[in-house]
Amino acid sequence: MPSGPRLYADLAHLWPLMSPPEDYADEGARLRSELRARLGPGRRRLLELGTGGGHLLHHLAGDFDATAVDLSDAMLAHSRRLNPGVTHHLGDMRTVRLGETFDAVLIHDAIDYMRTEDDLRAAFATARAHLRPGGVFLAIPDDYVETFTPPHIAHETRRSGGAELTYVEYSTDPDPGDTEIETVYVFFFRDSGALRVEVDRHTTGLFPIGAWERLLEESGFAAERLDYPFSEHGAATYLWVCTALETA
Ligand SMILES: C[S@@+](CC[C@H](N)C(=O)[O-])C[C@H]1O[C@@H](n2cnc3c(N)ncnc32)[C@H](O)[C@@H]1O
Repeated sequence: MPSGPRLYADLAHLWPLMSPPEDYADEGARLRSELRARLGPGRRRLLELGTGGGHLLHHLAGDFDATAVDLSDAMLAHSRRLNPGVTHHLGDMRTVRLGETFDAVLIHDAIDYMRTEDDLRAAFATARAHLRPGGVFLAIPDDYVETFTPPHIAHETRRSGGAELTYVEYSTDPDPGDTEIETVYVFFFRDSGALRVEVDRHTTGLFPIGAWERLLEESGFAAERLDYPFSEHGAATYLWVCTALETA
């Protein structure tokens, strides 16, 4: 990802401090129970696209035979350390084809990086191509046109060992006529030395809820939208639980 977010490249070392695996325990429990309710007992096969540091996957990897895909080798390195039983692949969720099928496909917050309807269509086609009929696709974007109220501003300080990270996150919608929003992070980082200050810009997608419904249906899924109380951005968010139809 040469021109992509620094957080997934030269600043990827900040990820475990910024968003540690323990923060994902409740989400992991919710997703585990949604999957169990639909797939039944037994050890099922799970593919996560855009797994990042594998912090969420860590809470599912004990119950599923898991495979992880991400665009960033630096992020996959975190997940490889944290989730040694998981199979990892470098790949783009829009184009990767592993030649295998799974009982479930998960795209967590990495789906935010789909910036156009064509991107979303391509990611949904990847999910469908890796699912058996009746398999379950879970997708969890952070924002929708209906819920995003710019500017969104957040800040937090995290400490671990001798390291301290404060970050400020500022999200806005420079052009409401397109399907993109922009988030700027400022990182203040100290690890037993001088304070480092780094800036990173992320461009992500923003779509109406109706666009999600339409694109999921066109991609061969029966989609349900459930309340999901784990929003990064404080606004209401949703878990899409989608069943792969026979005819796709
Ligand atoms: C916020 S991080 C995910 C963190 C993850 N939920 C965790 O538990 O650690 C977003 C990830 O999406 C990945 N990503 C962005 N675009 C992608 C794409 N087109 N295909 C695959 N991964 C992508 C980035 O490389 C990054 O690792």
